[in-house]
Amino acid sequence: MKLALFASGNGSNFQAIAEAVLAGKIDAEIALLFCDKKEAYVIQRAKTLSIPVFSFTPKDFESKAMYEAELLHLLEEEQVDLVILAGYMRIVGPTLLEVFSNRIINIHPSLLPDFPGLHGIRDAFSENVTETGVTIHYVDNGVDTGPIIAQEKLKIEPFDTLESLEEKIHALEHKLFPSVLAKLIKTQLEESHL
Ligand code: GRF
Repeated sequence: MKLALFASGNGSNFQAIAEAVLAGKIDAEIALLFCDKKEAYVIQRAKTLSIPVFSFTPKDFESKAMYEAELLHLLEEEQVDLVILAGYMRIVGPTLLEVFSNRIINIHPSLLPDFPGLHGIRDAFSENVTETGVTIHYVDNGVDTGPIIAQEKLKIEPFDTLESLEEKIHALEHKLFPSVLAKLIKTQLEESHL
């Protein structure tokens, strides 16, 4: 099973998944990191792990469709089976979605359908809810609306600050994302051998 990881920033989720793959905990190979921000720290992380990096942005193209057509070309050339969005801060458009339907997986830092969008952690914190969490889901044409694969809850304590909550969410993400991918890929491989 060949994975492409997409990320736009720090890349801590990328790192957690890559380490799980390298440790043999996920039965897959990371074909590439795609990053739409040429200065993002995740690029350094991939280079350190000797994972091939591809980076370009929609601004390099005349349209989003052309940007995604280039991405699609890359994914097909590398024979990628699954696309993992690990902090990829763009909406996936129809060019990619049509070909990779049910094969693009995202992580979101809230209990969807609550608090979709860019600021899942901050929005939950400022609404004073007592519980939030992390969601792993398939990507569809909405914003954080696709079918949910797994969720894990986390308590917001009265003494939590936004920073402490962010830390707890990220720690949960780094545990949940690799373990959910490991299970999902194992199931898919078993089914393909039936
Ligand atoms: C994570 O909180 C993820 O849920 C969200 O973007 C953040 C990416 O963090 N989609 P990192 O780049 O993996 O450190």
